[in-house]
Amino acid sequence: MLFRQLYDSVSGTDTYLLASRRGGEALIVDPVLEKVDRYLQLVKELDLKLVKAVDSHLHADHITGLGALRDRTHCITVMGEQSNVDVVSMRVNEGDKLTVEGISLDVLYTPGHTDDSYSFLMNDRVFTGDTLLIRGTGRTDFQNGDPRAQYDSIFNKLLKLPDDTLVYPAHDYKGDTVSTIGEEKTFNPRLRVGSVDEYVDLMNNLNLPNPKMMDVAVPANLKVGLAQADIARRGWALNVAEAIKLIGRPDTALIDLREKSEREKHGVIPGSLHAPYPDLQENVSPGGMLHELATATRKRIIFYCAFGERSAMAVQAAQDSGIFSACHLEGGIGAWKKVNGPLLR
Ligand SMILES: [Fe+2]
Repeated sequence: MLFRQLYDSVSGTDTYLLASRRGGEALIVDPVLEKVDRYLQLVKELDLKLVKAVDSHLHADHITGLGALRDRTHCITVMGEQSNVDVVSMRVNEGDKLTVEGISLDVLYTPGHTDDSYSFLMNDRVFTGDTLLIRGTGRTDFQNGDPRAQYDSIFNKLLKLPDDTLVYPAHDYKGDTVSTIGEEKTFNPRLRVGSVDEYVDLMNNLNLPNPKMMDVAVPANLKVGLAQADIARRGWALNVAEAIKLIGRPDTALIDLREKSEREKHGVIPGSLHAPYPDLQENVSPGGMLHELATATRKRIIFYCAFGERSAMAVQAAQDSGIFSACHLEGGIGAWKKVNGPLLR
């Protein structure tokens, strides 16, 4: 396995790059905007394909690298279902699995630092975001933070993991890089409390100044969505009302780009075909399934996904590959559900 811990000294952020092998798919956790060039250089040096960029929560102390990584690599951006971010490509919740080739992370919902805080468990290690830090815990005094919820996340979820589980947090300001659940149980001063009320008191009396970047970082991080308007301006977008009318029409092929787990959880548009986003380039290139489908049948190709990001990127790729009928469902299944569009489960 390839595992890289990359540090941003300005914000004290730890970013993690994971892949199962050289030449394989990679996933990055909590990237920082200013470091995007460095990440992409490393991705290139290790011959990786960046497939997913994930934020453990909406950060207040640095601008996320999610949007820039998506724009430069066409990777999928991922955050939790509770996040107030405008658009990400994919949202996850407790019990989901976050996967790339050869790697699977269990998604743990661990609110408290914020209400959209997640941790990700991978075999012997857990990425704890700002929920559990090394000899500390993430502050709970803004962004819908809640010390009671955080106590529950830490004591009833994270500390229940085996003692030798490695702890990799999203931040460290002292130069520590890794800990274990057992070490934190014994030595983390914030966790030496007798009750949830004691923890709430402790967290409510930290009186910390706001992060320096907060007024810049939070608004920027709320707007990481892909500019789908550019695709619409070129006439390559359909709204839900337009797309609903095309269900079952013989001159139309609706293509679902989502993962199997998303299809099972949220349902699929009747009559649509499944062509997962990671295989897109192969599928739209000459000789590929979608390229041949479009050419041989003259069917209009309509991509859809969860929120319209993957499908917007797919339209561009398909158009670039000569599939000039390609368009997408703006807003994806998220928009579809809002008007109760028909879904099969
Ligand atoms: Fe944070």
